[in-house]
Amino acid sequence: MNEIVMKPIGWIETPFRTREEIPFPPFHPDSPYRNPNVTGTVHILEEFREGIADIQPGSCALLIFYFHQSKGYRLTTHSPRREGEVGVFSTRSPNRPNNIGVTVVRFLEVDGCKLTFRGVDMLNGTPLLDIKPYSEEELMV
Ligand SMILES: C[S@@+](CC[C@H](N)C(=O)[O-])C[C@H]1O[C@@H](n2cnc3c(N)ncnc32)[C@H](O)[C@@H]1O
Repeated sequence: MNEIVMKPIGWIETPFRTREEIPFPPFHPDSPYRNPNVTGTVHILEEFREGIADIQPGSCALLIFYFHQSKGYRLTTHSPRREGEVGVFSTRSPNRPNNIGVTVVRFLEVDGCKLTFRGVDMLNGTPLLDIKPYSEEELMV
């Protein structure tokens, strides 16, 4: 299999238009990811609307998305918490083969095709590929 073609199930609205507007990584105390006042909205395409039935406000989920503003990738990169170059697959770098991003979020409100969430670290207009439930109970390995 050489190629996989995917179709976004929706898009993500956030207050951030450029990477510079998200200067801190998720673990940083000043990251918008940790700021309860910064919210984003998932917009699900009408054809996939039935699939978000039963998503409850307050629940956590993994948003799986496409880093659509990344240009190319490097197999080694800098990581804010480590010295020197490290392998890209040990980081959350947006410059990676396949451009896949994954963020744990908490849903605050569900309104038709719109899901408001806390835990924003993606740019406005980011294409959404999938949503999966997230639970700490899954960490059993
Ligand atoms: C370090 S990544 C972490 C994203 C996700 N939590 C993950 O682990 O895959 C977050 C950074 O990616 C960049 N970014 C976010 N959305 C993007 C997009 N749609 N295209 C390109 N870069 C993006 C921003 O610079 C943001 O600060």
